[in-house]
Order: sequence, then structure tokens, then C-alpha cells
Amino acid sequence: MPMPILEVAGLCARYEATPVLRGVDLVVQKGEIVALIGRNGVGKTTMMRCLIGLLSAESGTIEYQGRDVTRLGADGRARLGIGYIPQGREVFPRMTVEENLRVGEMIGRQRGAVDRGRVFTYFPILEERRRQLAGTLSGGQQQILAIGRALVGNPALILLDEPSEGIQPSIVQMICRVLRAIRDDLGTTILFVEQNLDTILTIAERGYVMEKGRIAAEIPRGDISQSNVRKHLLL
Ligand SMILES: Nc1ncnc2c1ncn2[C@@H]1O[C@H](COP(=O)(O)OP(=O)(O)OP(=O)(O)O)[C@@H](O)[C@H]1O
Ligand SMILES: [Mg+2]
Repeated sequence: MPMPILEVAGLCARYEATPVLRGVDLVVQKGEIVALIGRNGVGKTTMMRCLIGLLSAESGTIEYQGRDVTRLGADGRARLGIGYIPQGREVFPRMTVEENLRVGEMIGRQRGAVDRGRVFTYFPILEERRRQLAGTLSGGQQQILAIGRALVGNPALILLDEPSEGIQPSIVQMICRVLRAIRDDLGTTILFVEQNLDTILTIAERGYVMEKGRIAAEIPRGDISQSNVRKHLLL
């Protein structure tokens, strides 16, 4: 019996005079890996910012684990177990890898079961580089750190915005393997924005296609294929 972890209905949001989300409806079941795809500028990042609470909803509802979080701030949502990895990663460049991870742990502490060692087993590079300043890591390593920083907070739902952007393919494949392992081992639900066809084909089990601030199509379980995905990504 599927159990929704995230239910979004009629979500609208704007930047001042510009409406961007125009009534988004989507549902993510617990333990799923779901891709949110769509062309540049359709509102994917805005959707993620709205889901974590960095941008407030103008109307519509966001339910997480059966609870209405639409009016809850980003810190409150993080404390309830929503992890967010922004587009462009946004690690703290002048802090070490370890200090970046500590920021994630502070969020997770209230929820218990934070395990940095477990994150190091998924991403050994973070242990090797733990004393290095984050700003001196490669783009791929910074992406890994951003994921690790969310993971130490022990999230039940991970919101991940374009993990493959600007990263070499071998690291993207490694990140994909780890994300799937995390879901398989810990039951973590993953909703990720992506435009990279390989990444979508490798890990997405289902997809939503966004166009002009709405969900224009759903790619159901079993239908994630090269031709089905590609037609929604072509510019
Ligand atoms: N801070 C902002 N202020 C005003 N308008 C914005 C802001 N951020 C984004 N927009 C506009 O909102 C629309 C949606 O942007 P958004 O970043 O959500 O798109 P996206 O689907 O994530 O695009 P991309 O694939 O390029 O990351 C775009 O027209 C963009 O120009
Ligand atoms: Mg974006």
C-alpha cells in the first residue's frame, strides 16, 4: 500500500509581480525516487524553494508526512526531516568539509540518529578531505559534500536540485549509485530536479514534467525510457 510522504495541491508562488508556480499538483510516495524535469526557466528551482520553505506559497498546500507544512518556515521543515540540496550546491566555501557537515548535523540533532560515519561509508572522499576548505574542492566533490551535509541530518525526504549540473560524468554516476543505495538502505525518499538524461534514466522511478509553472505530464513507473524522457527535455 503506497503511503504519500509529500502531497502538493494547487501550489502557486511568485517573485513579486511575476507568477512562477501556477497550480502545481504532485504526490511522492514514501521511498520513491522521483524526477522533476522540464526545460530551463519553467519553475523547477522555484518549486524546490517553495517545498523547503525558502519561498512562501501564495496559495495551495504542501503536506509532508500527512501534516500541512505550507506555512512552516524552512528551519521547521528541515527539523521535520526534509533535506534540501540547492542548485549550485552552496556549500560554505571558507569552511572545511567537516565544518560543513557539522552544520547539517545541527539540524539533524533534534531528530536523533545522525551518523557521520555512515555518510563517510557512502562518500569516503568526505573523510579523506575532511580538513580541506570546501571552496577548494572540485565541483563534483562539492556536490558530494552538499549531499553529505543533508544526509547527516538524517532526512526522510531529500529535495535535490540538478545534482549533475557541471559535474563530470563519472562522478555523476557515482552520485547516482550512492543515492540509490541510500534509498535502498535507509528508505529515504528522493525528489530531484534534473535535465541530464542519463541521470534520470539511471535512478528515476517516476517523473513529473513541468511546463510554465504547472505539471504538464507524468511519466509513470515503468515508463521512464530514453524516448519518453527525451521528448520533454528537448529545447
Ligand atoms: N529571485 C528571482 N526573482 C525574480 N524572478 C526569478 C527569480 N528566480 C527565478 N526567477 C524567474 O522565475 C522563473 C522560473 O525560474 P526557476 O529558477 O524556478 O526555473 P528552473 O526551471 O529551475 O530553470 P533552470 O532549469 O534554468 O534551473 C524564470 O522565469 C526566472 O527568470
Ligand atoms: Mg533551476
